[in-house]
Amino acid sequence: MKTKAVELEPATVQLQDPEPKAKWTDYQDSGLERFIGELYLCHVLFALAESGVLARLRATEAVPESRLVAEVNRHFALHLLRYLEVEGIVEKIEAGWRLTAWGRRLTGDVAMAQLGFYIEAYGPVMSRMPGLLKGTLRYGRDVRRDGKALGRHCTTLNRTFFTPIISRILTEAGATAVLDLGCGAGTLLIDLARADPKLEAIGLDSAPDAVAYAVDQVEAAGLSDRIAIVKADAFEPQTWPERCREVDAVTAIGVMHERLREGDGAVVSLLDAYARLLGPRLVTFVLGEPELYYDARDNDSEMYLAHIFTEQGIPRRRELWLELFAASALRCRRVFDRPGAGPRLVFFDLVAR
Ligand SMILES: C[S@@+](CC[C@H](N)C(=O)[O-])C[C@H]1O[C@@H](n2cnc3c(N)ncnc32)[C@H](O)[C@@H]1O
Repeated sequence: MKTKAVELEPATVQLQDPEPKAKWTDYQDSGLERFIGELYLCHVLFALAESGVLARLRATEAVPESRLVAEVNRHFALHLLRYLEVEGIVEKIEAGWRLTAWGRRLTGDVAMAQLGFYIEAYGPVMSRMPGLLKGTLRYGRDVRRDGKALGRHCTTLNRTFFTPIISRILTEAGATAVLDLGCGAGTLLIDLARADPKLEAIGLDSAPDAVAYAVDQVEAAGLSDRIAIVKADAFEPQTWPERCREVDAVTAIGVMHERLREGDGAVVSLLDAYARLLGPRLVTFVLGEPELYYDARDNDSEMYLAHIFTEQGIPRRRELWLELFAASALRCRRVFDRPGAGPRLVFFDLVAR
């Protein structure tokens, strides 16, 4: 009788050379391992949001798997769910998939607006950083931020944190017709017009994609009779259509620092031009500006980079703005902020001297 050959388990030769081990430990201790993971996670969250998978996950407690992957590439979606499960963001239960408590916080409105701001709006610029740094690409010529995405994500952040501040300043000043410089998605004016049925408004922006998006938003809100959107340069008031000069209030949120690129004197001249143009009619000029603190908190560093590579003026602290106002024809009556609640913006309530 023949006996069957027994195959033994192959032995594992475990290598313990100190040099490769030290190199890998060095990498692990550097923290980069985590940063790479976080970078990929940001892209995954963005893809889930864009594809509608996230909305389905957030809408109910648990979603059956078949419904969750129904309108997307099933193969990719199932693997992404597995990845998210490993990361502790979703979990599988009998009824299907659901977000964990951390997953819900990670995908909340404000968190996703911040993600959209840095990944969707500024991602097209930041991902081209090598070319920008080497000088083979130029911002504005070869590379642009996504104006529509910027408007959309700023809208969520503004509505959550800033519109009440702006609305308060306008109401206290008795504004009846508002011009919003750098209006983005136009939603500030939509919200203000909804709150005040007598308010007339004009939104002005130089980015064609932002203007087209704002026009759609105003139409969808049924407010085209009270809100006009125009494509113009906020920094060239002499070129504005006549009706822009007939307002009694101006808002400029997150746009004026772009003028700082031309130097402080250019901003002072511009403020003087606004004061001249609108004269005694002006009840308030609400200037809202991001502030940089160089402390690596609240995405301060990312805000810095986004401004550098889009060749804007660099946002500055309020003290420096106050110096500019002191040299201009606009006087600052009050300063508003809300520390520790929202992106770092400061609001100035300005009037003509
Ligand atoms: C950071 S976004 C802020 C948008 C909006 N004000 C908000 O708070 O959501 C800046 C906006 O200003 C616009 N902008 C920049 N420079 C401009 C200029 N010279 N004239 C008009 N709009 C400008 C951009 O296209 C963009 O929509």
